[in-house]
Amino acid sequence: MKWLLSAGVAAALVLQPALAEDFFGEHPLTPRARDAFVSDLLKKMTVDEKIGQLRLITVGPDNPKEAIRDMIEKGQVGAIFNTVTRPDIRAMQDQVMSLSRLKIPLFFAFDVIHGQRTVFPISLGLASTFNPETVRVAGRISAYEAADDGLNMTWAPMVDISRDPRWGRVSEGFGEDTYLTSIMGRAMVESMQGKSPADRYSVMTSVKHYAAYGAVEGGKEYNTVDMSPQRLFNDYMPPYKAALDAGSGAVMVGLNSLNGTPASANPWLLKDILRKRWGFTGITVSDHGAIKELINHGVAKDPKDAVRVALTSGINMSMSDEYYSKYLPGLIKSGDVSMAELDDAARHVLNVKYDMGLFNDPYRHLGPKQSDPENTFAESRLHREEARSVARESLVLLKNRLHTLPLKKNGTIAVIGPLADSQRDMMGSWSGAGVIAQTVTVLQGIRNVAGDSAKIIYAKGANVSNHKGIVDFLNLYEKAIQVDSRPAQTMIDEAVAAARGADVVVAVVGEAQGMAHEASSRTSIGIPQSQRDLIKALKATGKPLVLVLMNGRPLSLVEENSQADALLETWFAGTEGGNAIADVLFGDYNPSGKLPVSFPRSVGQIPVYYSHLNTGRPYNPEHPNKYTSRYFDEANGPLYPFGYGLSYTTFSVSDVTLSAPTLRRGASLTASVTVSNTGDRPGATAVQLYLQDVTASMSRPVKMLRAFKKVTLAPGASQTVRFPIDENALKFWNAQMKYAAEPGAFNVFIGLDSARVKQASFTLQ
Ligand code: BGC
Repeated sequence: MKWLLSAGVAAALVLQPALAEDFFGEHPLTPRARDAFVSDLLKKMTVDEKIGQLRLITVGPDNPKEAIRDMIEKGQVGAIFNTVTRPDIRAMQDQVMSLSRLKIPLFFAFDVIHGQRTVFPISLGLASTFNPETVRVAGRISAYEAADDGLNMTWAPMVDISRDPRWGRVSEGFGEDTYLTSIMGRAMVESMQGKSPADRYSVMTSVKHYAAYGAVEGGKEYNTVDMSPQRLFNDYMPPYKAALDAGSGAVMVGLNSLNGTPASANPWLLKDILRKRWGFTGITVSDHGAIKELINHGVAKDPKDAVRVALTSGINMSMSDEYYSKYLPGLIKSGDVSMAELDDAARHVLNVKYDMGLFNDPYRHLGPKQSDPENTFAESRLHREEARSVARESLVLLKNRLHTLPLKKNGTIAVIGPLADSQRDMMGSWSGAGVIAQTVTVLQGIRNVAGDSAKIIYAKGANVSNHKGIVDFLNLYEKAIQVDSRPAQTMIDEAVAAARGADVVVAVVGEAQGMAHEASSRTSIGIPQSQRDLIKALKATGKPLVLVLMNGRPLSLVEENSQADALLETWFAGTEGGNAIADVLFGDYNPSGKLPVSFPRSVGQIPVYYSHLNTGRPYNPEHPNKYTSRYFDEANGPLYPFGYGLSYTTFSVSDVTLSAPTLRRGASLTASVTVSNTGDRPGATAVQLYLQDVTASMSRPVKMLRAFKKVTLAPGASQTVRFPIDENALKFWNAQMKYAAEPGAFNVFIGLDSARVKQASFTLQ
């Protein structure tokens, strides 16, 4: 037998040769070999050992290392999350090998959402690239670094469609659009899992949060979701399905209820749809503490009942609660949970461990001890160049009056704002195992890029917020924001003095990262008042004002939009964010990002999303009519539409040409436009194709993104962009829940955002 084992395992094998002989080795990574291996293993396992496999726990006050050692010895734990260094992971896997009866390896998981050691832009920023190849770079490096730290699984990608920016977790997903999110989610799964999650530098993904968590009522965290089956399957389900079709080995189940049934207690979601209809064979993992929460949801009467409901509904692994281990033995004894149900759940867990290659080598992602990095946090372990290049592509230029940008690398530049020099905020939420001190702020980036040729002066100007309740909220678990104790007016005066002495003002404003996170829902989505006061004072100086926005959700920016000469949306751009932002500010990189979410004018307009239905009385701004679908007290439509983003050059798009006026089933037609760079510098832009089913058996959205392509053009150059369209692009779930393309007229729209488009039409026969 050829051993692929590290020194740690080899030592353990000496102790248990008989067991090891038929256990670890080169098992072919095929479903057939896996099923035979796992069936055999299940036969050797006690009920308690099977239950142990279903437990996913984290080291912490509830489970100190000594307690975990004890659990490992007794076979009471299947996987660990939140342990992220090779030495720590190795210590636990060593305990499995030396202490446990069956030596079933643990797997190790972590939230690697947009980076592990190197932090990339938050997912909204990744989506803004409108470039799946760029997202693959972020995914591949994140997986590489995670696997290099010994991890086997990531709780990503998060593909919840979210159309309510009050929800803080908008930051974690790829935005409002079903197609864009599906493409980006797939890119993440494929790039993170690589050819196989068993590869040395790949990790298994866990797509989340199944299902429709992004539609929580009122954008309030953990709230109820209630929606029609048509909306669920047309808009919210496709991204999960796309991630599974791409091979994601795991699914994390949402904390929300869906149409009255909590997702973790929903056999229709977890069995009928996921397993039977979609053919999923990996594991389902409950979200943090979700099983206990079934009692609060009102679908389980006590902890034991919660366990019964969750397991029989199809939750394989329980994250972070002790209920499975406490109550499953009794439930099996009483027959309330059958042995077959327990076996089924344990089998799924063992299957994914097999797929991760852990039965070939439990140290798969650890390598030999001697290869451990001397310093886990070493600078040399980062991928700065890639982080900078991905971050540059994620930036969205929203406004650029009179060519305020790019800035010149001379004169005096005042860099102002509470976020201008904040390393913590630049990393965004769920920043993996990134190190704050390794992150480049906007101020540092401007200094790096401008060099000695420009004078840079800095003033904080304001605290993120002056609201004590908000500051306390943000600093609850960590000293996340530094509060300057000077009076607000003193800080503003200092900033105004800096602005007066400068040629241009760059104000870095928006949200602290903790404002756009799990459990960070907001009732207002504006820039906090302290910063708005600062912007107003800066505006009054009359100096050109560039607002660099840092935020994890669409903000309402009507006033700031009118105050700013230039607006650059940077989300939370990660480790190299400051350098990337400076590259764009100084024109070393021409921005090409596009918004993956519509920016509403106010909270009152929410939801604002481009792919809405037309209604019977659509509002037409050119012929306003009282009895139309509108708000009368504010301009209608978004401040910035989905897909929008400027460049330092200009582009034109020709009329749309169709290869045929009709589309036959089974065939395809091509829609094309010629895009030209009409400005004076090279640039890139995402060309977007939208479709509309004009008349169908039910109302269909006014537009649906169905394809996009990023093109890079030299000044004066043109390129013809061709998009094939076939019947599949026209299919939807109709009122009878039949998935089909209906014959009739379709509009094709092509443009550089969702609002300004060229149009053509064809008929499906
Ligand atoms: C979040 C998940 C996350 C998990 C583990 C939960 O609170 O909802 O998205 O993966 O914690 O960190």
